[in-house]
Amino acid sequence: MSKSFYVTTPLYYVNDRPHIGSAYTTLIADMVAMYHRMKGDDVFFLTGTDEHGQKVQQAAEKNGISPQEHCDMYATRFRELWSYFNLSFDDFIRTTEPRHENVVTHVLQKLFDEGEIYKDTYEGWYSVADELFITEKDYEEGKYRDVRKISETNYYFKMSKYQDRLIAYINEHPDFIKPENRKNEILGFLKQPLKDLCISRPKERLSWGIELPFDKDYVTYVWFDALLNYVTAPGYLKDDEHFNKTWPAVHLIGKDILTTHCVYWPTMLMAAGIPLPQTIFAHGWWTAEGQKMSKSLGNFIDLETIQSHCDNVGKDVYRYFMAKEGPLFSDSDFSKERFYQTYNTDLANDFGNLVNRIFKLIKKYYDGKIPVPGEMGDDEKAMENTSKACEAKVMELLDDLNINAIASEVIGYVTSINKYLEKTEPWKLAKTDLESTKTVLYTALASLRFSASLLYPLLPEKMTEFFSMLNNGDTAGTMMAWDGLKSGMELGEMKALFPRFDMKKLESM
Ligand code: MSP
Repeated sequence: MSKSFYVTTPLYYVNDRPHIGSAYTTLIADMVAMYHRMKGDDVFFLTGTDEHGQKVQQAAEKNGISPQEHCDMYATRFRELWSYFNLSFDDFIRTTEPRHENVVTHVLQKLFDEGEIYKDTYEGWYSVADELFITEKDYEEGKYRDVRKISETNYYFKMSKYQDRLIAYINEHPDFIKPENRKNEILGFLKQPLKDLCISRPKERLSWGIELPFDKDYVTYVWFDALLNYVTAPGYLKDDEHFNKTWPAVHLIGKDILTTHCVYWPTMLMAAGIPLPQTIFAHGWWTAEGQKMSKSLGNFIDLETIQSHCDNVGKDVYRYFMAKEGPLFSDSDFSKERFYQTYNTDLANDFGNLVNRIFKLIKKYYDGKIPVPGEMGDDEKAMENTSKACEAKVMELLDDLNINAIASEVIGYVTSINKYLEKTEPWKLAKTDLESTKTVLYTALASLRFSASLLYPLLPEKMTEFFSMLNNGDTAGTMMAWDGLKSGMELGEMKALFPRFDMKKLESM
């Protein structure tokens, strides 16, 4: 039976346009999903939009439209970005959908009936911009914007009672929070006594939300609502078979939403009697040309900027760059120079030149037909053995969600093919020994084909083009064994997959 693999992205707020940050988590999730599909796993990949809350209500009011109209407009923008990148998600959930509201309502009622939710009055500092009550210390440190003192009666979830259970769970499940530094951050946070969580907002202050089933004067706090999407989509309460097969999930998130995912979410699940996620992986942030991205600096790498780079070298290259250089473990900087440099080094030089060299020689000496290899020597056997080691390493790295290292591992294998050619020099050998040259060119092409199969999740369009050029009857997106290359078949027409980018153009960009 195939193994199931469930991966999620955060649900993006509909008060901002998509940018490099939102695109990053989603592209990484797409690559992880693709590798799992290649392994033969039954994959469920979820993304979507987070549509309730004060900011949406305010933005809609400002633009003179209804909150729902506002959400529809922004959800479309996200969908456009994902379809631009041809993403392979299986479901796109919006928190304003009835299927989701039903789950939120059910969980709230259940927790209320079981005494997990109570009503209380609280007076304290509230940040309107961030939609949360903050501590006196936060207030003094001036960490939050738009802060005012308010006294309010609300509903609270008894989060504090789960503190010890949560700490024990984290310690007993080494894969629960990744990477290690994020886990330590949460364990550090949990050294302070955990407070109960305010899960309601009075309608007089905020009406754009899911109404509490036990009190019509309140709506649900956005995070309590949004997190539940992860169980709604695979069919919680609606399709037990699919839900039980799919859950638990691997959640990919950014470091800024660590506490909500690693503290609020697991305690909510504990209270609701649902198993906890398999892994919560929090990546770092992108900066832009060495600076934090911010609205005031106007330096957000938005969809238009992303598309203008893609127009120069292809969408896949952006994806490849996200994979290889992205901030998985710590922050990373997006600089145009680094982007085009990586393209030239890894793709134009390493992969592109290799294709040229091998194809040209096979066309020149063997009429474009892949030669039958002779006996393999040590160098050839080494290429085959390294391919097996490379595949095993990629699968091991996949378990750690380490897409950075996967990209380096595979491109490292491509470099080793170039080294093999430099050592065997088929362009010279062909002049004196056409028999031995067959073995060399077969070995190089088998290695190239193998590397292309592992590069597929990082460069799906380009590798699909490569397989059609190779014309060997392969299906892009499947795992290909090194010795699966068929001799005797004619190569297709050669195209430049990765033409060199002229770095001088950067000056005028
Ligand atoms: N709506 C919540 C998530 C709810 S999940 C149930 C939210 N949305 S968000 O749109 O503000 O952010 C979504 C993701 O984008 C977060 O994971 C955040 O880390 C990521 N990024 C936003 N800016 C980023 C960078 N500059 N770099 C990398 N990722 C960043 O939070």
